[in-house]
Amino acid sequence: MDERRRRFLTRASRAAMAAGLVGGYGGFALIAGRFLYPARTRPTARRFVTTVDRLRVGDSLLYRAPSGESIHVTRHGSQAAARAFAALSSTCPHLGCRVHWEPQNDRYFCPCHGGVFDPSGVATAGPPGDAGQSLPRYPVDVRDGLIFVEVPEAALSARRDR
Ligand code: FES
Repeated sequence: MDERRRRFLTRASRAAMAAGLVGGYGGFALIAGRFLYPARTRPTARRFVTTVDRLRVGDSLLYRAPSGESIHVTRHGSQAAARAFAALSSTCPHLGCRVHWEPQNDRYFCPCHGGVFDPSGVATAGPPGDAGQSLPRYPVDVRDGLIFVEVPEAALSARRDR
């Protein structure tokens, strides 16, 4: 074996060993980091929206969560149960315009670029449909004729009293 080939093989094996060590320890560090610093989930709270009898089938209202999210709460069925309602963000996932509920077309529509969403918030046409960007959905609960939506809590802000 000539000297050049031997040096090349030595360097290649050292590089492979170093890559293996970096990969192994890097993976371990990543797992340890996730254990030590778990991802924080945003706290949510169940918020009263309205009563069942105030929303007829096909009606929708705009609910503003304490955290600022604007949410369409729409009644799609006659039952007084959560499955008859959908709570969907009114913010278009394409570029953030406001979507509108169109009961006559049984869809949500974004006028900015013609985004269309079915009653469950799944994008069916326009740029959101092409990109598979559906409307974010919030859990709905119906109890004793009252409609609740689970929404993110408002961020706490520190205020200094003087
Ligand atoms: Fe809604 Fe573009 S912002 S389709």
